[in-house]
Parts: sequence; structure tokens; C-alpha cells
Amino acid sequence: MSIRAATVEETYHLMVEKLSRVVPDAELRYKADLVFEINRLKEERGAIILGHNYMEPALYHTVPDVVGDSLELSRKAAQTDRDPIVFCGVRFMAETAKILNPRRTVLLPAARAGCSLAASITAEDVRELKRQYPGVPVVTYVNCYADVKAETDVCCTSSNAARVVEALGSDCVIFLPDEYLAQNVARETGRQVIFPSKQPKSSDARAAAPANLHYHLIGWRGRCEVHEKFTVDDIVAVRKQFPDVVVLAHPECSAEVVQASDFSGSTTRMIEFVKKTKAPRFLLLTECSMGDNIIAENPDKETVRLCSIRCPHMNEITLEDTLAALKHNRYVIDVPEEIRVRARRALDRMLEIG
Ligand code: 13P
Ligand code: SF4
Repeated sequence: MSIRAATVEETYHLMVEKLSRVVPDAELRYKADLVFEINRLKEERGAIILGHNYMEPALYHTVPDVVGDSLELSRKAAQTDRDPIVFCGVRFMAETAKILNPRRTVLLPAARAGCSLAASITAEDVRELKRQYPGVPVVTYVNCYADVKAETDVCCTSSNAARVVEALGSDCVIFLPDEYLAQNVARETGRQVIFPSKQPKSSDARAAAPANLHYHLIGWRGRCEVHEKFTVDDIVAVRKQFPDVVVLAHPECSAEVVQASDFSGSTTRMIEFVKKTKAPRFLLLTECSMGDNIIAENPDKETVRLCSIRCPHMNEITLEDTLAALKHNRYVIDVPEEIRVRARRALDRMLEIG
């Protein structure tokens, strides 16, 4: 992915080749300087840059050594011996890298790159649920912070969530914090989801739990502020206008939206689907930069631009900040050792399951 060029001019020409369909020329000219300098400094420092599939096209196609979804980037972060690891993604992803590879310095280019799902739940919320449902295993989506992962039996990502739930071999599983992912996993694994009230008083706890917890997921009402915006009406309207459109939805969309779509999967699985199928036109119900990244790589395909929903947190990561991260060694991600060790167990279990 990363552009290797001897000069800024050569960098610019390589960027034009890859990106002229999706990025205006003036922007490519300006960004070529930054890209050249980032790649030069990366080599000089022995760094690795990991980039999530939601990075904007002029960054995604030029500076990361590895791009991918949360699972792929976690695997790469665990294996690399390069230092520092610059994580072009959001904070929970950079924390995951630190948990898995604590001897490396992990840098997040923007201090405020959060996530509405990660912000929806605290470690105390998880402890309360464990008190309410003693002995029930806890799965958390990786989109949560280290102290929440530390309370967890096993983590999952959008590409292995159903597999992880089934691998536990338990009729009842606490599945946090994404309400919609829980609904989608419940459907895939033949379960029902229940949502206990937030922070119930201990005396109410048993009353809140149904008598028969067979084949249940116990969920939480966290939502991705991007994917919750897509509706079935959006799909119906686009299908009416373009009857041959193939609709792809990320599993953080509601169960109704996923069911009205033709395919659902992690960001990388969506990218692979577009590459492999012969359909000429796609509607991607996910963060809009990924649509641009796909168009840049698949000039023969067309994506229907339903709307421009950018994740404000992913959007925080810019080429300017990535350069500043390498220059000034910022922002360093640290996880207290006691939390890291427990969170690591939950991530290792996930990576073992695959
Ligand atoms: P993926 O693991 O599918 O890349 O999803 C991460 C994410 O934050 C999607 O909103
Ligand atoms: Fe979080 Fe949604 Fe942004 Fe992904 S797209 S980082 S889930 S807010």
C-alpha cells in the first residue's frame, strides 16, 4: 500500500495513478509533500504504519504498510517487530495494538479519535452485568476500551463475532456493547437478545433476568453513530432507482437493514466482495471513505453515493497528524499493566478462535 518513491514529484505521479478518480489534483499536489516526508521518516525511524479501511483515500493508499479491518490489524500489531507502531485508526484500536505488543511504542496520530460504541460502556457496567448474571460468559466487541476488555472472557470483531459466541458452547452469553451487532449475531446463532436496564439496583437484578436464559444474548444499548443512520427506506429508494444494485451492509447496521441487504460483513469482507463479484453497481452502508477507497482500486465498478456519512473519529486522523506523530513521537498509548494482562487474555482467546 505504502508509496515508495525517491522524490516528491515521483510520489505525486504515483498518487495521481492511484487516486485521480477520487481526489482532486490540487489536493494530490499538496498531499504529495506530506506523503513523501511521512514515508521517509517512517523508514528512518524503523516504524510501521497500520491503517484502518476507513482512512481517507489520500492517506489509505499512500502511507500504511498494512491496511485492514480490526481483526487483521490486531493480528499484524501482535506480530510486528517494528517500532514505533503508528496506528491510523481510532483509540480502541491503538490500545489493542499496545495490549498485544507491549514492548513497542504505539502512537495514535490524533489524541481525540474516539468511538461512540467504546464510549457507551464502562468497566463498572460490565461488572454490574456479571453480578446480575453470574457465571454467564462475557464477549465484548473490540470497539471498547482496555478496562472493559479486561472484564471480558473473550473479545470479538465484526468478522468473527458469531464464531466466537458459538465457540463458547454456552446457551447464554453476555454480548457487549453494540445493540445492533448483538441482534445480527443473535439471528445468525439462533438466539434472542434481551437488554437489561442500565445499572439496575442489585435488588432488582434477579427480577430483571428472565427465568429461562436458554439461547439468549444479553446485550447493551451501544450504537455506532455512523451505521445507526442507515434505514430500510434508504435501501428501498436506491433499489427502485437502480434495480441491479447490490447492497452491502456492515453488521453494526440494524438487523432490519442487514436483512434487507444482499451481503453483510466486516469492512475487509465488504472490500473483497466488491472485488470478486461481477455486479457493476454497489451500495455500501458503511463509512463513506471506504467507498472512495474501493472506487480507487476498482475503476470498472460504480458505487451509489447514498449519503456522505463520515465517522468523525476516523476523520480525526490526517496526513498532517501522522507526520507530526512520527516527528514528535505522539500521542503515546499506554495501558496500565494490571489491565493490559487481563485484556490480553480476552484478545488472545479471540485470536485463537480466529
Ligand atoms: P471492522 O472490524 O469491520 O473494520 O469494523 C471496525 C469499525 O469500527 C466499523 O465501524
Ligand atoms: Fe466507532 Fe462507528 Fe466510528 Fe467505527 S464507524 S469507529 S464503530 S463510531
